Amino acid sequence: MLDKVQELQQYVNSFSATSLEELEDFRISFLGKKGKVTLLFNEFRNVPNDQKKEFGGQLNKLKKSAQNRIIELKQGISSSQNHSNLDIDLTAPAQPYELGSRHPISIVKNEIIEIFSSIGFSISEGPEIEDDWHNFSALNFPENHPARDMQDTFFISKEIALRTHTSSVQVREMENNQPPIRTISPGRVFRNEAISARAHCFFHQVEGLFIDKDVSFGDLKQTLNYFTKKMFGDSAKIRLRPSYFPFTEPSAELDVSCTICNQKGCNVCKYSGWLEIMGCGMVDPNVLDNCNIDSTKYTGFAFGMGIERIAQLKYQVNDLRLYSENDLRFLDQFKNANY
Ligand code: PHE
Repeated sequence: MLDKVQELQQYVNSFSATSLEELEDFRISFLGKKGKVTLLFNEFRNVPNDQKKEFGGQLNKLKKSAQNRIIELKQGISSSQNHSNLDIDLTAPAQPYELGSRHPISIVKNEIIEIFSSIGFSISEGPEIEDDWHNFSALNFPENHPARDMQDTFFISKEIALRTHTSSVQVREMENNQPPIRTISPGRVFRNEAISARAHCFFHQVEGLFIDKDVSFGDLKQTLNYFTKKMFGDSAKIRLRPSYFPFTEPSAELDVSCTICNQKGCNVCKYSGWLEIMGCGMVDPNVLDNCNIDSTKYTGFAFGMGIERIAQLKYQVNDLRLYSENDLRFLDQFKNANY
């Protein structure tokens, strides 16, 4: 009987397998219910008493070494299989790495910021949920005045609304700083409009403010002329048309010569040769006084433009909804932009 154990022990020591199936057959034939080792355990009661101790010890050893051999061989097989699965062609060309692109609104916003930063404007930001004071009252919108209807407002309560323009940020800047103030306020604004190709319930603005001693309408015109040429190229011309805003006096609308048809006439400029791009004007003295700036000492100009509008003209995007639909066919086209 002991011989039998030793024989099996030798077999275990020399056994090797090249596949998991082979190994499993080995396990079943040795350690399975009817396996050789299991059967020997069943023989135990037939062993004479004086040999029981030694037989038992040898048998346990055999069982252990069969188990260890299985574990050992299993590891060898799986690591060599991993190797053979590694069938990489190291000479194959690499997979192209897909680069994302910036959103056109970010591209144009960054470009506007860059132009104004280069002439000394700082960047200011403020909350999208505003109180009546910062969005309207401080900006000289009289209570119940129809001018408040110029901007269809999403009210949260009587006093709180989603800001309709980033002029609200400029009020905060004036309240917290004394002139000279030279700042632009980029940000998202909200108006209660039905969504169509030409209108949306939210869009983006950059508004600008410059307050110091002796700031004149000429400064306003030169600054915006400089901006327009940087944005649309040296051949771009501007014109100012009188307009009305409660917070500026005098107020104007700024047009740029049509960049699409070079003023020959096209359907974007409606054959006028001009495109409206922003509102502007000299800050109304009431606004300065509301923000604790001495209107007898200081004057200033302000302007505000829609980023979507500038992007529309730069990239000839005719439907405002494209900016917020996340359509990759649209967004992929801005990969070459520098900003
Ligand atoms: N706040 C105005 C708007 O949202 C734009 C504007 C800003 C006009 C500054 C004049 C001066 O339409």
